[in-house]
Amino acid sequence: MDHQTVIVLDFGSQYTQLIARRLRELSVYSEVWPPDTSIEKIRARAPVGIILSGGPKSVSEPGAPKCDPQVYELGKPVLGICYGMQLMADALGGRVAPAPQREFGHAVVKVASRSSPAALFADVPDEIRVWASHGDFVAAAPAGFSVVATSANAPVAAMANPERQLYALLFHPEVVHTERGLEILRNFAFSVCGCRGDWTMASFVEEATARIRAQVGSGRVVCALSGGVDSTVAALILHRAIGEQLTCIFVDNGVLRLNEASQVRKRFERLRLPLVFVDASALFLDRLAGVVDPEKKRKIIGATFIEVFETEAAKLGDVDFLAQGTLYPDVIESVAIVGQSAVIKSHHNVGGLPARMRMKLVEPLRELFKDEVRIVGRQLGLDEELVIRQPFPGPGLAVRILGEVTPERLTLLRRTDAIVAEEIRRDGWYERLWQSFAVLLPVQSVGVMGDERTYEYTAAIRAVESRDGMTADWARLPHDLLARISSRIVNEVKGINRVVYDVSSKPPSTIEWE
Ligand code: XMP
Repeated sequence: MDHQTVIVLDFGSQYTQLIARRLRELSVYSEVWPPDTSIEKIRARAPVGIILSGGPKSVSEPGAPKCDPQVYELGKPVLGICYGMQLMADALGGRVAPAPQREFGHAVVKVASRSSPAALFADVPDEIRVWASHGDFVAAAPAGFSVVATSANAPVAAMANPERQLYALLFHPEVVHTERGLEILRNFAFSVCGCRGDWTMASFVEEATARIRAQVGSGRVVCALSGGVDSTVAALILHRAIGEQLTCIFVDNGVLRLNEASQVRKRFERLRLPLVFVDASALFLDRLAGVVDPEKKRKIIGATFIEVFETEAAKLGDVDFLAQGTLYPDVIESVAIVGQSAVIKSHHNVGGLPARMRMKLVEPLRELFKDEVRIVGRQLGLDEELVIRQPFPGPGLAVRILGEVTPERLTLLRRTDAIVAEEIRRDGWYERLWQSFAVLLPVQSVGVMGDERTYEYTAAIRAVESRDGMTADWARLPHDLLARISSRIVNEVKGINRVVYDVSSKPPSTIEWE
């Protein structure tokens, strides 16, 4: 089950995970490791190659992250990207200096050498547009290196020392804005590192199944379903591996979207997954009554979920394992990324579960990125609607109703939100957006309907583009689409007489309103 692995050492670039994802798209298994990982640990993992990522610092800055220079002596191919290139040049006797013209964004790179050192550029045109983001550059390549590409602002846009299998790029081949970037990575992985492409989702499913069977034996597993893609795919793989030893529990917390609970039920019936469906909506809404503070709402929902889940799990008798849909970005240990995923995790209302229940964890998706989970989902027969679903927060509509959550307000928001979803889908925007939804602002204002004055609530529409939810930009939805959404809401949802579009980005705003 050991795959040829390329290790990416993470120096803090926002694109680091993308390098690993791109390699995996090429069927090459890749992991992201902290920059200061010991050389013994790297050697023990026996990677076929190492990539040094970009990063925000200058190599000469105090506190700039470094890797053990012995990585260049391992006899394995190393590719430095951006900061990784500067680090390599600095460590091996080249000269790194502040660039007279910093490059951020598009740049044009000319391939200078077609001889063997240019293996990375095999089949790549002489001139390519690339994505760069650097303040420093390599002013002089280290001895033994040849310059294989240049750009207007950088004498060394790519350098190589093929005898030592050391390569470096000033630009980011992992970013889609770099023409032929994937080919450059493919050349590194396949031609330089000798990868065969042994990482596929079909093989993953086989291996994960075997691994789950080995871990669980004849034990029983309970899986907390959120209704989202991760926990559903985790349940599907577990079911494939251990059949009826698995029980899934879904809790209707009363703050789900229109028809969401019944869809989960139908989906599980269709997939023949063993499901305990608990309608606890009355309990949740009872506890939320009168609560206005958003943090309090979250805490109530989180604590009530754990309570209900524990009660249901206890009814199953002895259960040995708790399954979770943890993904790879949550387990990557690195300064830059742990900080970010920590924020996301603190949101998760099932976070307190494993510790409380003292069960062993099964996390079949721990190795996967989200895009890989989607592929696995499709392979296991999941419907496309769920596979491409946008993220939905655990505390649900409770964080999209400002002020108190009441059954009446929930009904208003559900109907409004369904209109937003329908129109966004119809216009082909759904998949382009990270999230799109409605928020209920229970502040009344005057309107006019026919001959009558109205005094009703406002709905806010939120639509954002984002890579990971950490930063987000409001989506430039066409005015016609916004117009259709607005007129349908005001006409079809009695109780709302005004619709506004949120044009704030994150930061300084957040995606949810709360
Ligand atoms: P904010 O509102 O902080 O949200 O910009 C960032 C992303 O996280 C999602 N989110 C949550 N996800 N449980 C979750 O599983 C939560 O409690 C939660 N709160 C926010 C939010 O939808 C957005 O994608």
